[in-house]
Amino acid sequence: MKLRQVEARNFRNITQLDYHPGSGLNILLGDNAQGKTNILESIYVLSTGSSFRTGQDKNMIQYEKEAFILRGRYNYNDRDIESILSYSLKEGKRFAVNSKKTTFNHSDRLRVVLFTPDDLYLIKGSPGKRRQFLDFVLGQIKNEYDYNLSNYVKILKKRNLLLKREQSNTRSFKIIEDIFIENAARVILARINLITILDESSSSIYKEISNKGQLKTRYALSFPIDSGKINLDILKKALKKQIQEKTDQEIKRRSSLVGPHLDDMHIYQDGKLARYFASQGQQRNIAVALKLAELYTFKKISGFYPVFLLDEVLSELDAQKRQLLLDHLQEAEFQSFLTSVHLNDVEYSQAAISVVENGEIH
Ligand SMILES: Nc1ncnc2c1ncn2[C@@H]1O[C@H](COP(=O)(O)OP(=O)(O)OP(=O)(O)O)[C@@H](O)[C@H]1O
Ligand SMILES: [Mg+2]
Repeated sequence: MKLRQVEARNFRNITQLDYHPGSGLNILLGDNAQGKTNILESIYVLSTGSSFRTGQDKNMIQYEKEAFILRGRYNYNDRDIESILSYSLKEGKRFAVNSKKTTFNHSDRLRVVLFTPDDLYLIKGSPGKRRQFLDFVLGQIKNEYDYNLSNYVKILKKRNLLLKREQSNTRSFKIIEDIFIENAARVILARINLITILDESSSSIYKEISNKGQLKTRYALSFPIDSGKINLDILKKALKKQIQEKTDQEIKRRSSLVGPHLDDMHIYQDGKLARYFASQGQQRNIAVALKLAELYTFKKISGFYPVFLLDEVLSELDAQKRQLLLDHLQEAEFQSFLTSVHLNDVEYSQAAISVVENGEIH
C-alpha cells in the first residue's frame, strides 16, 4: 500500500494541506509545534477512523472551525483507491471509499503501523498494552478478529455483571458460558498464530540490530493447558475446565478470572524476561524490532505492506541504531513517514525530505 497524496483541511494546525509523498522513506522535518505529528495523525485517522492522541474527535478540528476533512489517495493491489473522512460538529463522522459511504472495516481502507515513543512501554508496560498491540495488528489484518473480539468483550461484560449481581446460578449465566468460551478460544488462537510469525521476524531483526542478543516472543496463557498441541478444541476444553475449577473463586471475587483478557505476550532477551532484565536501550531496540516485525508479519499474512508511521523515534536511539533504522527504511519495499526535529549525524540521501512549518509543507 502506498500513499500518493494526502489532503487535509482544518485539521489541527493544518488549514490546508496537499502532500505528495515519495514511495519510500519520507521525512517530515521541522521545529517543535509545527505540525509534524499532526500530519502523521491525519494519515492514522484516515486509516483507523480515530486518533492515537485523543479520544475526542472534536479535538482534531482546528480551533474556531466547525469541521475537518481528510482525503487520501493510495495504491492497493495495483488499484487506485481514494478514501475521504470528514468530521463535523453538526453531522459527526463520515467515511467513504471510492465515493461510497462505508464503515472503517472496509477491505480497501488504508492500513498503517504506528511507532511512537509510547511503544517503548510495549516491553515494560502492563500486559494490557501488549494485548492492545496484538489486537490492533489482528484487527487490521482480519475483519473476523475484530468481530470475535468485540463479541468476547460484550459477553465478558455481561458475565462480570452477573457475577457482580450474584446471579451466577441463573440460566443466563449458564447460557452465555458456551459463547464466552467459543469467542475466547478464537481470540486466543488468532493471537497465538500471529505471535508465531511475529517471533520469527522479530528475532531475526533483533539479531541484526543488537549484534548478539537473542529475542524470543511467546504468547502467555493465563490458564494451564494439558496438551503440547494447540487448536480450537483443545483451547475450548482447557477454558471449560479452568472455568469449572475457578467458579467458586469467581463468585467470591465477582469477576471473570479466565480468558484472553488476562493473557500476556512474554518477551525474552537471552532467555530472560525483557521487562525485568533488559536495559532501557535494549528495550528500545526490542521495540524497534517488534514494530518492524509487525510490518513484515502483516505482509506475510495479508500479502501487502501497510504504511509505516514513525513519530519522533530517532531521538530515542543511539547514533548507530539511528542510522541502522534509517538505512532499513531507505532500502525497504514499504513506504514510511518519519518525523524529526533534526537530521544531524545521519545519512538520508534516499529519503524524500519535507519541511513542516506552521501547519504547511515546503
Ligand atoms: N485543534 C487544533 N487546532 C489548532 N491547532 C492545534 C490543534 N490541536 C493542536 N494544535 C497545535 O498544533 C501544533 C503542532 O502540533 P504537532 O503535535 O503536530 O507538533 P510537532 O511538529 O509534532 O512538534 P514536536 O516536535 O514538538 O512534536 C501545536 O502548536 C498544537 O498546539
Ligand atoms: Mg510531534
